[in-house]
Amino acid sequence: ERGEYRHYMLKEIHEQPNAVAETLEERLTRDRLLPAVFGPDAETLLPAVEGVHIIACGTSYHAGLIARYQIEQMAGIPCNVEIASEYRYREPVVPKNYLFVSISQSGETADTLAALRLAGKKPYLARLAICNVPESSLVRESDLVLMTRAGPEIGVASTKAFTTQLSALALLALALGKAGKRLDQAAEAAAVKELRALPAAIEDALGLNDEIEHLAEQLVHRHHALFLGRGAHYPVAMEGALKLKEISYIHAEAYAAGELKHGPLALVDEDMPIIAVAPNDALLEKIRSNLEEVRARGGSLIVFTDPETGFEADAHSQVITLPKAGGKLTAPALFTIPLQLLAYHVAVHKGTDVDKPRNLAKSVTVE
Ligand code: M6R
Repeated sequence: ERGEYRHYMLKEIHEQPNAVAETLEERLTRDRLLPAVFGPDAETLLPAVEGVHIIACGTSYHAGLIARYQIEQMAGIPCNVEIASEYRYREPVVPKNYLFVSISQSGETADTLAALRLAGKKPYLARLAICNVPESSLVRESDLVLMTRAGPEIGVASTKAFTTQLSALALLALALGKAGKRLDQAAEAAAVKELRALPAAIEDALGLNDEIEHLAEQLVHRHHALFLGRGAHYPVAMEGALKLKEISYIHAEAYAAGELKHGPLALVDEDMPIIAVAPNDALLEKIRSNLEEVRARGGSLIVFTDPETGFEADAHSQVITLPKAGGKLTAPALFTIPLQLLAYHVAVHKGTDVDKPRNLAKSVTVE
């Protein structure tokens, strides 16, 4: 079933263009989001939404963190994102007209289900599940459902589930933006165009494979790595760090690059690889100056960036340039691709059990 691929994870990484296309299929016209995407009730419900609580675990939580930037920007409503295992043991205060959103590949994660059940006792407008398994408990128990169509994900490290979640969440941001009348037709058409270009852009990003495989050799003997990003790419850095630690057992941490000088900069020396996600967006100059601080302390840098951002490779820094820049809705998914490949190749070089990392289960059905 793995076919030509050495591991399920690699196969699933390469399935992403198709999985994302499937997830967007029949939900968009050439320049519009179709109204039926969230079911018949959504048409009256979405215009009433004044805020969103997103709950998930692990990689699905990272997808939620990215969506927050998009929902706040496109819909102009507050959005909070929280880990299910924390949410379920708080007494969450739910303001009027809030939408509860759970995100889960499996739909069977114990903490996420417990959070959903707790939310059922709170005055949410509705509970929406973004999930990959139609017959799962999460789907059965939610009021609204938006399925990701990644197909079965076998590798414990989540890859195609994540990028399809990002695609589904982009649809949610769009729908909320439209429902709140904040997004005009031209903005909607531009967002739809950007999303429709995502599968091909992911395909192009997969072309970085050989370059990244080579780069991965340098990380094999490292014990630590620091991932940096800003804005919506901070959670992308978190996802990159999670992938690396999960399958290669290298201790990896992610920081918002602006936090560096509040502590982690003390860790930076020539033995600390710094992996930065630096797209050509409004925060480019901010992260550039953060990376200068790292360079000044002798850190070795690996910068993932867009064309024409002006990062130059030298003795202490390597630059990996994505073939084409994405926009606000799609850049986080695109920058995730090289980070998945990096974690994968480091793990293969190290000889770990890539598809079944030690101590982990694919679906965490116990607390
Ligand atoms: O099935 P779920 O999306 O609810 O799973 C949540 C996490 O357990 C999962 O994303 C986990 O973090 C992955 N192993 C990460 O690669």
